[in-house]
Amino acid sequence: MEFLIQDKAHDESRQGEALVLEPNGKHNGRKLYIESYGCAMNFSDSEIVASILADKGFETTQDFNNADVIFINTCSIRENAEVRVRNRLKEFAGAKFKNPGMVVGVLGCMAERLKAKFLEEEKLVDVVVGPDAYRDLPNLIEQVDGGQRAVNVLLSREETYADISPVRLNTNGINAFVSIMRGCDNMCSFCVVPFTRGRERSRDAHSIVAECKDLFDKGYREVTLLGQNVDSYKWSATTAEDGEALTAGAEVQVVNFASLLEMVALIHPDLRVRFSTSHPKDITDEVLYTIARYDNICNYIHLPVQSGNTRVLELMNRTYTRDWYINRIDAIRRIIPNCAISTDIITGFCTETEEEHQETLSMMDYVKYDFAYMFMYSERPGTLAAKRYADDIPEAVKHRRLKEVVAKQQQYSHVRMQESLGRVERVLIEGFSKKSTNDYAGRSDKNAMVVFPVHEDYKPGQYANVLVERCTTATLIGRIIPQTP
Ligand code: 5AD
Ligand code: SF4
Repeated sequence: MEFLIQDKAHDESRQGEALVLEPNGKHNGRKLYIESYGCAMNFSDSEIVASILADKGFETTQDFNNADVIFINTCSIRENAEVRVRNRLKEFAGAKFKNPGMVVGVLGCMAERLKAKFLEEEKLVDVVVGPDAYRDLPNLIEQVDGGQRAVNVLLSREETYADISPVRLNTNGINAFVSIMRGCDNMCSFCVVPFTRGRERSRDAHSIVAECKDLFDKGYREVTLLGQNVDSYKWSATTAEDGEALTAGAEVQVVNFASLLEMVALIHPDLRVRFSTSHPKDITDEVLYTIARYDNICNYIHLPVQSGNTRVLELMNRTYTRDWYINRIDAIRRIIPNCAISTDIITGFCTETEEEHQETLSMMDYVKYDFAYMFMYSERPGTLAAKRYADDIPEAVKHRRLKEVVAKQQQYSHVRMQESLGRVERVLIEGFSKKSTNDYAGRSDKNAMVVFPVHEDYKPGQYANVLVERCTTATLIGRIIPQTP
């Protein structure tokens, strides 16, 4: 059971979305169907995959029955994510039965986790490709055409796909995700990511800034910089293949996350910058001061706490204590007044007592998070926790604790929404609201969804000042206050 509350980087409504791209003039007569599950990084990776295959002449289709190649980009983070993908593969079996020439491939974290076992277990799967092997896809498809099955799940210490400019799929032309690093070295004991996505590596800062600038020139107005732990981003100009000095601030030789944020913010004041995910152990005051200094870096930080209890945090190998986390929250409040904070919480981790669970609830009282993503602990094979600790909290207890956490979050989400009543929020208009073409929808700096009547002087992609008059549980409702020149 999972609860997800509004955030583009974790948008539940995008799960299983089929991705489509504009034809590029190259044709090999074959059609690709690609759908993605899991985190924003996977959606961003699917854009890289589509880019690699578009270059070989593949076109995309939204109907998998019409496809020559079906790819499913998978997630292993919790068991139910994997169950969902296995069920979906059964649906693809019907299409392949009718068209035996069809190539079916599993990409992403499950591919890495299950490797060749997939080919044996799921008889219809022809290709299994891990997150660092997408450049090999054209060869692997050729192998399958030649009658073989193909696997490449090699993880890399270098691959960042820096030079591949991703085609934007299903885009509104306004928001884009830009991957700044890959992998994770943190080894949180519950998490499969370090195993499925490999060692952490940072992408060339030049290529990130160039991609964001190109997006801005094409009319995009918001970029979300993505990484499993953005605060440990570190790239040095001397490690760049071309050895060129950095153009934006030539004296900077080593680019850390604060300097990268600044370089992206300087592209243009109308380009909003978001990022995800921050790690409490690594988020520095320097990053917070950078956010405070630039109006176009959004006042919104996703800072997963996981648990409010120091002993549980230690078992989780999060490498911070309750006090450390509170110190980071205090620093955010001090340096960036009016900053939205969201979190991830796991209930019922191995050996968690009732008192320790209460400390998670009291942490929520302390921070009063704007949003939270809340999960019951799901043991993942191969992780440190699976090896070291018994998954000993009964399902019913995990569930009850999750319900308590969710109820508390609903209360604070509501409090935070109400704080905006009567305020004017700067909203980037993303398009019409889901319910009506009479209304626009967009997000505030603090990442709250805002809906307001269409105004003839404003178009999607523009900023509007919106007076918030009402709110529902997840949406602010108001009207544009036109700017007087
Ligand atoms: N069980 C439950 N939740 C998990 N997460 C990661 N691994 C697990 C797991 N085994 C959650 C964490 C993380 C978010 C992306 O997913 O809260 O921050
Ligand atoms: Fe997983 Fe921890 Fe890395 Fe996040 S920081 S991806 S939870 S290991």
